[in-house]
Amino acid sequence: MCGIVGYIGNQKAAPILLAGLTKLEYRGYDSAGIAVMENGEIKVQKDKGRVSNLYDIKEIDDLKGTIGIAHTRWATHGVPSKVNSHPHMDCKDEFAVVHNGIIENYIELKKELENEGYNFKSETDTEVIPNLINYYYSKDNNNDELRIVRAVKLATERLIGSFAIEVLSKENPDIMVVVRKDSPLVIGKGVKENYIASDIPAILSYTKDFYLLENFEFAMLSRNSIRFFDKDLKEFKKKANTITWNAMDADKNGYDDYMLKEIHEQPTAIRETIGTRVNKGICKFDELGFTKEYLSSLNQIYLIACGTAMHAGLAVKSTIERMSKVHVEVDIASEFRYRDPLVNEKTLCIFITQSGETADTIAALKLCKEKNAKTIAVTNVIGSSITREADFAIYTHAGPEIAVASTKAYTSQITLLVLLSIYFAQVLESVDKNELQQIIKEMLDLPNKVEKILKNTKKLKEIAKMMFKEKDVFYMGRGIDYATAQEASLKLKEISYIHSESYAAGELKHGTIALIEKGVNVIGIITDDNLVKKTVSNIEEIITRGAITTMIINEEIAKTLNTQIFTNVITVPATNQYLSSIVTVVPLQLLAYYIAKEKGLDVDKPRNLAKSVTVE
Ligand code: F6R
Repeated sequence: MCGIVGYIGNQKAAPILLAGLTKLEYRGYDSAGIAVMENGEIKVQKDKGRVSNLYDIKEIDDLKGTIGIAHTRWATHGVPSKVNSHPHMDCKDEFAVVHNGIIENYIELKKELENEGYNFKSETDTEVIPNLINYYYSKDNNNDELRIVRAVKLATERLIGSFAIEVLSKENPDIMVVVRKDSPLVIGKGVKENYIASDIPAILSYTKDFYLLENFEFAMLSRNSIRFFDKDLKEFKKKANTITWNAMDADKNGYDDYMLKEIHEQPTAIRETIGTRVNKGICKFDELGFTKEYLSSLNQIYLIACGTAMHAGLAVKSTIERMSKVHVEVDIASEFRYRDPLVNEKTLCIFITQSGETADTIAALKLCKEKNAKTIAVTNVIGSSITREADFAIYTHAGPEIAVASTKAYTSQITLLVLLSIYFAQVLESVDKNELQQIIKEMLDLPNKVEKILKNTKKLKEIAKMMFKEKDVFYMGRGIDYATAQEASLKLKEISYIHSESYAAGELKHGTIALIEKGVNVIGIITDDNLVKKTVSNIEEIITRGAITTMIINEEIAKTLNTQIFTNVITVPATNQYLSSIVTVVPLQLLAYYIAKEKGLDVDKPRNLAKSVTVE
C-alpha cells in the first residue's frame, strides 16, 4: 500500500503535493518523492524516509512548477532506498510515474523491455510502467492529443496486478494522465486547477467535488478540464460527487479510528497478498527454491511468534501439517527461546511478525540459526530487522498497520501461510492437484466474502450494546475455530479491557464449565462440518446452565441447525475449512471494536500497549 497525490493548476505544486503526502502517510512512510514539471523538464526529488524529510530539501522549496505528482511508499518490491523511491522515470527520462499497487508480472515485462534496449535502475515493479509507456508512445506515429493516453492504455493493459498511477510526460507538459485498477484513486475538481489523490481526505481542504475512477477508466487532466475515457478510449462524461465530510476526518479516510479502517482494508490486504503469489492456479515462492528432497527430509516445522501473529500460526498449523505431512509446532517466541528447543538442520522455522521488530521473535530466530535450521520470516515490513536476519523473507501486503490491535495483518498472515502450505504440497506432490486448485479458487473469492461481512454490522452493534458492561466473556470452538476463538478473545480484552478467555469446546467439561452460570456471555464459533455436532452439544450444555450464547456460524452449517436455541446468531459465508479463520474473525474483530466504542475507549491506543514490542 502506498499513497499518491497529483496537482495541476496555477499554484506552486510542491507545497500542495507535500501537504497531500503528509495526510497519506498512514498508507506508507518508508520513502517519499515528488516530480514537478518545470520549463519543459520533469524534476524529481525523492529519498528514503518519511515525508517530513522532503520539507528539508532545498531543491523542492525552489521548485516553481505548477504541475506535479507525488508518492509516499510502503515497500513491496525492493528495500526502502532513494533509488527504489517513486516517482520513477523511464530510462530515456521522458515520463514520470507514481504507482500504488503491485505489478505481479513485472519480471517478465522487465525482460521483454530489456530485450528492446530499455534499462532499469531500481528493484521495483513500478519502473516497468514508465518504460512500457515510453515503448508504446514511441511506436505510435499518430501525434495527436490522445497519443499519451493511448500509450498509457497499451502499457497498463500489459500489467497484471493492481495499480493507481499518475503519469507526467515531457512532450505533453500541460497534461497529466491517470488510471486505476483495484487500487484507489480520486480526482478533485477545482477552479482552473485539479487534484488527484489515493483518498479524498488528502485533498479535502481544496475541494469538495470529486470524481471516483472505476477500474480501467482513464482521465486526462489539464488545468481547465478533466476528460474521461473508458477501457476502449471512448470518451464519456462523468458526474462529480460532492462530499460532505470535513477535513478533520482526513487521515482516517472518514473512519472514526485506524482500527476500523484497517478492519475494512482486509479485502484489499488479502487480495494483494494473494496477488503476489498466485499465477495461473499455481502458488509461487520461487525465492525459497525448496526441493522435494529438502521438504521430505524435514522432521519438524516450527511456527514461532507472539500475540496475534502467534494466533495466525495456530490457525494454519493443521493446514501446513496436512499439506507438508510434517509435524508442525506453534510456539510463543518468549517461551521457545528459553527452553532449549529441539532444532537442527532438519527443522524449518517460520517466524511470523507484522512489524518484523519483535525482540523475542528475532531472538528465537537467531537461536534457530545457531542450531543450523532454515529460517523464513513472514512479515509486513520490507527491510525490517527480521528480514535481515532470516534466510528468507516473505511478505504480507497489508499496508501499514497503525492501530495497536492487529487485524488486517492477522488475516494477511493466514492468507500467506495457507499459500505457503499449498506451495509445499505442490513441491512434495503430497495433495491432489484438484484439491489444491479448489483451495486457491476459494482464496480468490475470500475478499468478496469478507466484504459481505463488513456490510452487515447492524446485529453486531446491537450485541455490543448488550455486552459492553460485562465483566467476563468466554469464547469457544474446536479445531481452527478454537484458534480463531483465541484471537477473538485477545482482541476483546486488549481494546475493551473486559476479562475474556478462550476454550477448546471439548475442554469445558474438564473444569471451565464451573464458571458458567445464568447470564454469562459465551461466544461460540462453528465452521467445521465434521465437528458441528460435537460443538453444538457443548453449547447446549452451557445453555442449560443459563449462558447467553452468540454464535458465529457459516451459512451452510446454519441451514442444518435449529439456531433458535442460541441467543444471537451471526452467519458468515462458507469457505474452505483452511480459510475459515479469515471469515470468522472479521465479525469478532468488529464486535470487540463496537464494545470498546460503547465503553468510550481509545481503540487505537489501548492502555499499556505498544505497536512494536522491541524489548523483552
Ligand atoms: C495484538 C497484537 C500483538 C502483536 C504482537 C506481535 O493485537 O497486535 O499481539 O501481534 O505484539 O507483533 P508482531 O507481529 O509485530 O511481531
